[in-house]
Amino acid sequence: MSTLRILSGMRPTGKLHLGHYTGALENWVYLQNLLADDGSKVYETCFLIADYHILSTSLDTSEAYRNSMEMLLDWLAAGIDPQKSPVFRQSQVKEHAELFLLFSMLITSARLERNPTLKEQVRDLNMESLTYGHLGYPVLQAADILLYKGNVVPVGEDQIPHVEITREIARKFNFHFPHPTIGDVFPEPEPKITKFSRLVGLDGKAKMSKSLGNTVLLSDTPEEVFSKVRNAVTDTLKLRRNDPGRPEVCTVFSYHKRFTAQEELAMIEADCLSGALGCVDCKKRCAASISAELEPLLEKRRYYEKRMGLVEEILLDGERKAKELASHTMQEVRTAMRLG
Ligand code: TRP
Repeated sequence: MSTLRILSGMRPTGKLHLGHYTGALENWVYLQNLLADDGSKVYETCFLIADYHILSTSLDTSEAYRNSMEMLLDWLAAGIDPQKSPVFRQSQVKEHAELFLLFSMLITSARLERNPTLKEQVRDLNMESLTYGHLGYPVLQAADILLYKGNVVPVGEDQIPHVEITREIARKFNFHFPHPTIGDVFPEPEPKITKFSRLVGLDGKAKMSKSLGNTVLLSDTPEEVFSKVRNAVTDTLKLRRNDPGRPEVCTVFSYHKRFTAQEELAMIEADCLSGALGCVDCKKRCAASISAELEPLLEKRRYYEKRMGLVEEILLDGERKAKELASHTMQEVRTAMRLG
């Protein structure tokens, strides 16, 4: 049996925040390092920097390279190991564009217009109308996944509709274009979501997001983390220190649930409910829990920041490996489609 392949990616918007970490990155690292009983890797992992996808919402490419490198630094800091997982930019592997074109013939525009993630984005960004490329966003994503024959796609829950479209495209391709020797060219990938797939924003809004400006960055120092958490929205009915609080509606408590150890968490919950714990103290403890988890990331980030030549080399090496896999798949696609 061959090893299952994992392919996932993120749009390079610059430095990553805690939502990226709990929603995807942490899970990527876990899956990258997962070993079978015989000591072999359970998954082959590949991670993509979706720099073409950025163009669907912004034509300003002046920061594209910098944002990609900042994101890569955060990936490395969080434990993505380039020896185990090639990392690469979509724009540097031309096969993405080629497969995207072929896939665009396999899906109707009506199907793409029904995509709930797209609708949400159009609403959040107040977009009047869509470009053709933006409508095709999930088609490009399908090319990303299937070029590497990804079997498993670890993503946040908002990406499930895109993976569903990927599955439909894979099925349709395999049905219309059986390969003379291997049969199905593509697997039907499964999404894999994390438990904390969405982290509430500091302002209490449904999710952390750069455009909402309500994030804690993975690269924030303990001082920065505390100054952000200090301003986070809590239970709006708890006005004074001794008022009993409602942890279940509190943003800060939702972070405690993810970052604070079980025993301390139970105490914080009890003391908030009774009114014994004031919000300022609670926030201090929350910031400390977050920073404790981020400390090793900060250290690793600093290591790589001082060695940007190495980081560039890591990226170029990942791109070489990705190109090899991608061109192999495209040969199969061309054979199956009798192109050439
Ligand atoms: N759409 C994903 C996001 O916004 C990024 C992405 C691009 C991706 N290509 C992918 C995710 C392939 C998983 C697999 O986060």
